[in-house]
Amino acid sequence: MKGHFITFEGVEGSGKTTQMAILGHALETRGYPVVRTREPGGTKIGDAIRSLILDSKNQMMDAKTEFLLYLASRAQHLKEVILPALAEGKVVLCDRFADATYAYQGYGRGLSKREIELIGRFVTGGLSPDLTLLLDIDVKKGLARLKGREEINRLDQEALQFHESVRKGYLNLAKRNPRRIRVIRTDAGVEEIAKKIKEAVDDYFRVP
Ligand SMILES: Nc1ncnc2c1ncn2[C@@H]1O[C@H](COP(=O)(O)OP(=O)(O)O)[C@@H](O)[C@H]1O
Ligand SMILES: [Mg+2]
Repeated sequence: MKGHFITFEGVEGSGKTTQMAILGHALETRGYPVVRTREPGGTKIGDAIRSLILDSKNQMMDAKTEFLLYLASRAQHLKEVILPALAEGKVVLCDRFADATYAYQGYGRGLSKREIELIGRFVTGGLSPDLTLLLDIDVKKGLARLKGREEINRLDQEALQFHESVRKGYLNLAKRNPRRIRVIRTDAGVEEIAKKIKEAVDDYFRVP
């Protein structure tokens, strides 16, 4: 059996967590077996790595250290969660995956995109999402939405320019992978965005 691997990507505050919850519920209502997960994290080891990466005290973290921590978390995540679920024919909804590494570490931090792809492939074994929903919003609007959030992590604190570069990286990826990545503008109401996402997912399930 081969499941379905659907990822949510986008800058901070673009609505990934909100929309993934809505889609997960909608798919379950329609009888799909759904697994919800996120990166970094998704496993006990991954969650420990996640706290290292996001800890506001770790301002001195080197870009390569950060990159490798994300990949370490991904390796564990694939082994423990994603691959077994896909093998069981489940729909895996994942809040961020390899595209995030490309956008954040490549465009945001300026690491070599070629090396990110190369080393990234070592970890994923070439596995790529079947469908990626890229939630796109003006970075200022996205960051403004986070104001209500209790914990502001190390990445939320990055300069505006950093987030602009990340957004650019994501849009670039979407241009290069038009079949896999669907860009969904998210400066709209939650329900309206959910409807667009549902359409994109319906399209995906319709095409064999
Ligand atoms: N369409 C929307 N309009 C206004 N606020 C939103 C919308 N979608 C989500 N939010 C709010 O914005 C904040 C960030 O959304 P979230 O889903 O956590 O984004 P992300 O996971 O991409 O960082 C949350 O407080 C959420 O309730
Ligand atoms: Mg989120």
